[in-house]
Amino acid sequence: MEAGIHPKSIVILDFGGQYAHLIANRVRRLGAFSEIRPPETPVSQLKDAAGIILSGGPQSVYETGSPQADPAILQLGIPVLGLCYGHQWLAHALGGTVKPAIVKEYGHTDVTVVATDTPLFHKLPECQSVWMSHGDEIAVLPPGFRTVASSADCANAAMADDARRIYGIQFHIEVTHTPHGMEILKRFVGLCDHAAWSVESFAAHVGADVKTRVGDRKVFMLVSGGVDSTVAFTLLSETLGPDRVQGLLVDTGLMRKDEVRQIQSALARLKLPNLHVEDASLLFLDRLQHAYDPEEKRRIIGDTFIDVQRTVSERMGLRMEDGWMLGQGTIYPDTIETGGTKHADHIKTHHNRVEAIARMIERGLVIEPVKELYKDEVRMLGEELGLPHDLVWRHPFPGPGLGVRILCAKEPVPVTYPDDATKAKTEAFLAEHAAIPLPVLTVGVQGDGRTYRHPLAVFSGTSPAGNADALALARSVPNAYRQFSRVVLCTSHDRMPATPFVFTGSGAITRERADLLREADAVVDAEMRAAGLYNDIWQFPVVILPFGLAIGGQSIVLRPIRSTDAMTADALPLGDELLQRITQRLLGLKHGDFSIDMVFHDLTSKPPATIEWE
Ligand code: XMP
Repeated sequence: MEAGIHPKSIVILDFGGQYAHLIANRVRRLGAFSEIRPPETPVSQLKDAAGIILSGGPQSVYETGSPQADPAILQLGIPVLGLCYGHQWLAHALGGTVKPAIVKEYGHTDVTVVATDTPLFHKLPECQSVWMSHGDEIAVLPPGFRTVASSADCANAAMADDARRIYGIQFHIEVTHTPHGMEILKRFVGLCDHAAWSVESFAAHVGADVKTRVGDRKVFMLVSGGVDSTVAFTLLSETLGPDRVQGLLVDTGLMRKDEVRQIQSALARLKLPNLHVEDASLLFLDRLQHAYDPEEKRRIIGDTFIDVQRTVSERMGLRMEDGWMLGQGTIYPDTIETGGTKHADHIKTHHNRVEAIARMIERGLVIEPVKELYKDEVRMLGEELGLPHDLVWRHPFPGPGLGVRILCAKEPVPVTYPDDATKAKTEAFLAEHAAIPLPVLTVGVQGDGRTYRHPLAVFSGTSPAGNADALALARSVPNAYRQFSRVVLCTSHDRMPATPFVFTGSGAITRERADLLREADAVVDAEMRAAGLYNDIWQFPVVILPFGLAIGGQSIVLRPIRSTDAMTADALPLGDELLQRITQRLLGLKHGDFSIDMVFHDLTSKPPATIEWE
């Protein structure tokens, strides 16, 4: 059920892609209330809006079946801003002409502002670099409009009807690649008589939305102890009353060291009493014992969560037929990677977006109170709800847990080449840098699409420019050599040992490997806290690879990264001293038949790599 809009919010009509959420997030950062609605929302539901922003989208406005907004929104007398597809829709709806562009523009483009007196570009530079991504353009402006900005290949890169306060911009002001984008958006927001966005009013709004969606039902909530699901759980409990919310914490066997105990005590301190803890580690590990492919592992883990939830709810007598629904702490970036918005590619299946859940969502059986938000907003909400600082600022930990940090392979995966010329060119490059492809595959993202390629290892003792070379290679290699999506620097050996890599056992997820990774992860966590670096980083995945230098040998990859929303990320190179201390401690770790005998430091940003290795 679609809830009514908050009075005087700036409404973003979503024409597809990931733009709408980014715009909504940016508008909120500018202090204005914003929300997203489908493009076809009738004008009757938008009467209280303070302004409307029409988002970008991948289609052509003149194609039959392309998304259309209600033209009556243009009669409301409130400011309207169309971006990319939204810009073209304005022209189309108001009597202008849109046609395929002679030169399609993608990427950085310079525009010249020709009407500097128009409010949106007032006092901004006349020549600006902007981010373009379009195949169509406005050939003829609608009556009443004038050209505001042009690029070499796009005459109407921006247009305005100042009297009616309707504006159109071909480029994407919502991305950081348009340096003055936020300034332009700020000027538009300034034209709107909008409600102020504050965490308090936002929490109240989300609470009201939850009430409408849940009605008189009750919620069975999957909690992981991370900030997203804890915020969602707290919000549901406060809004609906604790008796109508039952939490379930599933111990998958893929949690971090001592995590279950820590979550239990944190939630107890929060006075969220309705928490059931189910140890399902045997079931998860049993189902994963033959899974090697990352997407298969993700599917098994996501499905097993649902099976455990069903078993527990049956046992506790909480049935969907009796008015129980499923709650999840999904946030916006989780949905985009799974291709959850109309036009996004499928990068990874997030555990809360597997098929079984998608079917329940269609049937209206799932409530996800924070699914429109980015992590920064969930954290603000967490602070507002009074959650402890440590919990709110914990590093994100993925739902599938160590399951996507334990890489699986029975035997070495060889590098393959499409032809002899590529092979010769790549091998010459590898020889020049004494670089070694690691014999496993890892997930990356390039041009918004998924890749599954080898990591490339470099060694400081044989690389012509040592560590600095490794960083430079991390930038250039994934673009130049399609066999590799990441570059890692070996921190345990300054040159590749003469012995070949050794694979031991099944190479799949086992409790032993999970235990060894748990120890390694705990060492890294403690060292980062001791070094005072915990708060400087977004997240620090520690990954185990199924090979080493001797029988039972395993390798560890350190992946500290900086990010603001996990959509893009930069690797954070650690200082030599810290890196060596961590490496030496890791090399001493043993568990059962396994021990760590190689350590690597991943230096690749996202894109082209993803944050997690799978
Ligand atoms: P990637 O690795 O795709 O991850 O750059 C982006 C962010 O999402 C987290 N992540 C997940 N979170 N369920 C989650 O709740 C999942 O299935 C999942 N997969 C990745 C990841 O840790 C990073 O913060």
